[in-house]
Amino acid sequence: MAIDSVSPLVAGVDEPQDFIASLLLTSDDRSAKGIAASVHRLITAGIMRPGDRLPTVREISAQLGVSPATVSEAWQSLTLVGALITRGRAGTFVALSTPGTGPNRYMGLGGPQTAVGLDLSQGTPDPALLPSLLSAVERVTRGQTEWSSSYFDEPVLGTLDDELRRTWPFAPERITVVDGALDALSRIIDHVVSFGDRIVVESPGFPPLFDLLERAGAQMLAVSMDEQGIVPDELARALEFEPAAVFIQPRAQNPTGTSMTTLRSSELAQILSTSACWIIEDDHSGDIAQADDVSIGRYIPERCIHIRSYSKSHGPDLRIAAIGGPSEVIEAVIASNIAVIAQ
Ligand SMILES: Cc1ncc(COP(=O)(O)O)c(C=O)c1O
Repeated sequence: MAIDSVSPLVAGVDEPQDFIASLLLTSDDRSAKGIAASVHRLITAGIMRPGDRLPTVREISAQLGVSPATVSEAWQSLTLVGALITRGRAGTFVALSTPGTGPNRYMGLGGPQTAVGLDLSQGTPDPALLPSLLSAVERVTRGQTEWSSSYFDEPVLGTLDDELRRTWPFAPERITVVDGALDALSRIIDHVVSFGDRIVVESPGFPPLFDLLERAGAQMLAVSMDEQGIVPDELARALEFEPAAVFIQPRAQNPTGTSMTTLRSSELAQILSTSACWIIEDDHSGDIAQADDVSIGRYIPERCIHIRSYSKSHGPDLRIAAIGGPSEVIEAVIASNIAVIAQ
């Protein structure tokens, strides 16, 4: 239900019963995750305001007909993402500033140029090394290439689909093209991450991914890297928390530069075969990477979503990336693109 349609009924959530009324209106999901997601929606919609005191766990559990443990679990995940704070006996409050609404880590990247004028922190390729796109643009403008005439056509031209499949590290069910790897990550997160989900990320990793996951209300589980990729034992331990997804950079990992070896990819695949989580591979360096195009999708294609960016090889202003993997996720990404166009 759209939050706009309930807000006039509950403007100013001053009384516990108002709070519960608005909670009842936003969702029927009475699991800890569902309650946490509803409260988060109330906060982001401004219905619950910074500093508002929440009713006691007992009051809410009685009203919603759930156990106090369920409400406590919901409060715990909201506290972990910084949406709530507990002040001992004084109670639980909406945090004064809700983190995760902006790309804070992304904006913190970069900084002043170094003495040699080289800033590697943003991963921007040297424009002098980029290929000329002139002949490609000429072919398009002269009508010498396939052309798409409608937003509702297949998102990938036939010849491009063939070429992507020929070079993809595994046989994907479906392929589409979006506006760069970051756009791909954002659209995939929209589909595979729900509020309160645990998500495995590499540590150190790509700060903008952490911003996106935080905004989605995910709890991140950090796993370390060694010179071959993610440390298998750490992944195995993280999977005990039943994460919804694992995000990996298979090549030229940002910021360590590590590329996953074939041996490591098979070890990780074996560990992941015992779980049900999605595996999202961000091959952000794509065609300029020198390491092999190793993918866990060779072993678990039904749960692996592989992103290949062309920003580094063809220019960041083109912002093109292909995504290949299970139809369920790729179809959702295609649908979200159409929804954006139709707005
Ligand atoms: C790990 C990682 N993912 C994604 C991106 C963004 O890629 P794109 O320009 O295709 O959006 C970058 C950019 O450097 C990156 O380092």
